[in-house]
Amino acid sequence: MKTLVLLFHPNSQSSNANRRLAEAANTKEDVTVRDMYQLYPNFQIDVAQEQRLLEKADRIVLQFPMYWYSSPALLKQWEDAVLEYGWAYGSTGDKLQGKELLIAVTPGAPADNYVHNANFKYTVTDLLRPFQATNNLIGTRFVKPFIVAGASSIKEADLEKATEEYANYLTKELELLGDYE
Ligand SMILES: Cc1cc2nc3c(=O)[nH]c(=O)nc-3n(C[C@H](O)[C@H](O)[C@H](O)COP(=O)(O)O)c2cc1C
Repeated sequence: MKTLVLLFHPNSQSSNANRRLAEAANTKEDVTVRDMYQLYPNFQIDVAQEQRLLEKADRIVLQFPMYWYSSPALLKQWEDAVLEYGWAYGSTGDKLQGKELLIAVTPGAPADNYVHNANFKYTVTDLLRPFQATNNLIGTRFVKPFIVAGASSIKEADLEKATEEYANYLTKELELLGDYE
């Protein structure tokens, strides 16, 4: 299985959590990591090249720090530019069908904020529904997201554990996330 990790972090050099997760992913055979902000600092995405790489992948991973309960802006630009009508969706847009889509996200705030009766009111999975809806449109298979909460102040031992879990997660068989799970 070929896994393509697209990392969307505005500054991966100054990142702690995402940099370490990406480094761990890179050690795995058949996993390719692309640092999208480094490749496209001006948001001028090479659509044909990105589509070619996606077509070759079996599992597509979108990895990013949570920004404003969502993602950094380049990921939105990537969706707008790369997921074209007639390629990703529409009557002839079947190029991503059947591939797995995995979201790997690091909310800065601790996990106990992301429950229905806590201050943020929504789970991280709730907040990822736009990606799940996009998944439904493009015919990919939305697997259970990989979430490292509390990333802003994560202890070294916990980050070390998370990086190991991530590297394993990327290469094992994954369960799908239910529509309202
Ligand atoms: C512009 C911006 C917006 C952020 N929004 C959120 C947010 O909505 N929820 C949250 O839990 N953390 C938020 N954070 C914290 C980041 O998610 C956190 O710093 C990041 O996941 C840490 O990963 P890194 O070490 O790879 O940068 C935000 C940070 C920035 C800079």
